[in-house]
Amino acid sequence: MTGLEPLPGVVLEWGGAHRRDLPWRHTRDPWEVLVAEVMLQRTGADRVSSYWSRFLTRFPTPAACASAPLSEVIVEWTGLGYNRRALNLHRCAVALVERHGGQVPENLEDLLALPGIGAYTARALLVFALERDVGVVDTNVGRVLARWSGESLKPSRAQDLADRSVPNGEGWAWNQALLDLGATICRAGEPDCDRCPLSTDCQWKGSGPDPARGSAQVGGRQSPFEGSDRQGRGRLVDALRQKPVEANLLSEAMGWPREPDRAERVAAGLVADGLAERVGEQYTLPTGGS
Ligand code: ADE
Repeated sequence: MTGLEPLPGVVLEWGGAHRRDLPWRHTRDPWEVLVAEVMLQRTGADRVSSYWSRFLTRFPTPAACASAPLSEVIVEWTGLGYNRRALNLHRCAVALVERHGGQVPENLEDLLALPGIGAYTARALLVFALERDVGVVDTNVGRVLARWSGESLKPSRAQDLADRSVPNGEGWAWNQALLDLGATICRAGEPDCDRCPLSTDCQWKGSGPDPARGSAQVGGRQSPFEGSDRQGRGRLVDALRQKPVEANLLSEAMGWPREPDRAERVAAGLVADGLAERVGEQYTLPTGGS
């Protein structure tokens, strides 16, 4: 199979009828779209909605975000998890102000050069803010493309298929339809092939080995959060959002009262990443700029 038959009518019609009404789909403002996409990288659409509006009320432009201390952006990120995204978004806002006069650039190369912006987010900006005809490949679309083509896809092949499947002038609606298809029908665990607009054309059709397994952008299972270093990192950032933490209370704050060495090692990682600072015997949220 060399490509996917676009079937534009069927998929676009399905997409129009079943489009999830998500708040970031009502804007074409590139900063608003960027904030949504960064939040959606790790958090489900249902949860992102309220965080997205609150964040934009506080930081309506890249300049507003860039001029705030990083600690404030981390505080606004409360509840979303994966705090590194807050750091990246702040770094990105600073780069937008320094390199692009506070605007989001409109070409792939400049977008990809921004901190924290990868292949998916750069293309999502081109599609969802600028309505360009390119394909986005996140975990949902990656799964749809692999099953539809019947192939476990390398990243470059997935991107190529995604780009070539976009019907002329329909990039925005097409990509929204594929995202919705992946999220609601072509699900990882229980695909609902009977209701799928691609079912006649799909090379997989829900039986036999799943081509999406191991295919580009289709993540495997996440390692357990409970007891992980990530859990301790999250707990420390949560504590720092309230107030500084004394070094001798570090392992308590991280939920590891009997593992002080581990606490110190993981906290040093947070400091190295720029998500915390250590001044003397105290840990704090980072105050500096980028
Ligand atoms: N609309 C635009 N981008 C989206 C995403 N990543 N997930 C769900 N809906 C979206």
